[in-house]
Amino acid sequence: MNYAEAKKMLEGCGQEHVLAWWKKISKEEQKSLLAQIAKIEPKSLAYCQKALKAGTTAVDNSKGVAPKVAVLKGRKLAEAVEAGEKELKAGRVAALLVAGGQGSRLGYDGPKGCYSIGPITGAPLFYFHARKILARTIRYGRTIPFYVMTSEANNEATVRCFEENDYFGLNPDDVFFFTQGMWPGMTADGKIIMDAPGHVFMSPDGHGGLLAALKRSGALDDMKRRGIKSVFFFQVDNPLVEIADPAFIGYHVMEKSDYSLKLCAKRDPKEKVGMPMRFGDSFRMVEYTEMTDEQCNRRAKDGSLYFLYGSPAIHVFDRAFLEREAGKSMPLHLAFKKIPFVDAKGKVVKPSEPNGYKFEKFIFDVLPNARRAAFLAFDQKEEFSPVKNAEGSDSPATCKADMQAKWRRWLAEAGVSVKEGVPVEIDPAYALDAADIKSLGIALGAE
Ligand code: UTP
Repeated sequence: MNYAEAKKMLEGCGQEHVLAWWKKISKEEQKSLLAQIAKIEPKSLAYCQKALKAGTTAVDNSKGVAPKVAVLKGRKLAEAVEAGEKELKAGRVAALLVAGGQGSRLGYDGPKGCYSIGPITGAPLFYFHARKILARTIRYGRTIPFYVMTSEANNEATVRCFEENDYFGLNPDDVFFFTQGMWPGMTADGKIIMDAPGHVFMSPDGHGGLLAALKRSGALDDMKRRGIKSVFFFQVDNPLVEIADPAFIGYHVMEKSDYSLKLCAKRDPKEKVGMPMRFGDSFRMVEYTEMTDEQCNRRAKDGSLYFLYGSPAIHVFDRAFLEREAGKSMPLHLAFKKIPFVDAKGKVVKPSEPNGYKFEKFIFDVLPNARRAAFLAFDQKEEFSPVKNAEGSDSPATCKADMQAKWRRWLAEAGVSVKEGVPVEIDPAYALDAADIKSLGIALGAE
């Protein structure tokens, strides 16, 4: 795209201010600004402006009821595990990681997946994910292809992290990086925000950007070519996640589900997690901000919370469902944020109050489109401890403590007790679960 084309396109949608500093910026900046403009589609701008006009309208969730959530035990659990193992042995399972977020709460300068979390080795989050996939691949004798969604901002550093670590033992041919889309930030009146005279403020289009990105990148075609049926979805910040867990895969397949969700019991009525609710024949994720106090505190007959189960974003999708959804447009969610901007004199200002909007799509917005959905309960302490904040709850400190507590439980089951205060770390490719530890007959002598 050249200057004249960019000008014409921007004028056509009332955004000509994007070129206001053209003569003041360097040749290099001009080139990169044109490259940015070339990626902005007028159609997408109109979509964002429409979302701004509509604003955040309150949705009526009062008719929502709690979904049926399976708690698998005994024979039912064994059946699900068997069905899941069958899928894994047939090579019909893929792992899909969304790692395009900005991790602003953690405040780490780099892809969150590169953040050091190993209590002893300092290994990054990516290490724990990749090594689990490797372990399952070895256990079931079939490849689990690994699809990693990045953003334009962190793609290069993510790929470098994998390369520098020899893909953590995975075959590079089975790791597929793809990049999600970016939206420009806008003021309330629908004007693109410039965060430097030669630069448009852009932010990733949310984990829901996954669907379009899967299609655009050819990842969906790659899954089809490999004969993938079930796609295990997870987030980068949770090293406790049991990737491609056979019970979950098996339950999903047995239920002939399009979209299955692992859910865990809320620790308190006001916990900040989304809740899937049933509305007639379909389901919808209701965010904690959209629940009334009455809904948060409602009790079932046995005294437990009626809306007990929240979603930590651990899903299994049917590949054909992802294909169906990938071509559809998704709702946009607005986030009112502090966005740096260029003032009338060309100076960059860091606002102290929110001044502009970011736009995001959320993957769970496709839940109502699922012809069949399934919900499976799991124990939070075994599988969910995210790294969201730099300190306090859901921080590296709590996550490392939870990882070690889990490994200690495994060791205890194998009759190995580790003194309090002694750090513990287990390579997932060495032992994927307590049974592995037992069968290895470990005698650590750490008493
Ligand atoms: P979060 O909602 O925790 O957002 O993402 P974040 O960007 O990582 O962190 P904050 O809110 O800025 O502190 C949950 C998961 O969704 C991915 C993240 O990488 C993480 O795995 N994600 C989020 C994307 O892949 N793309 C996005 O645009 C947003």
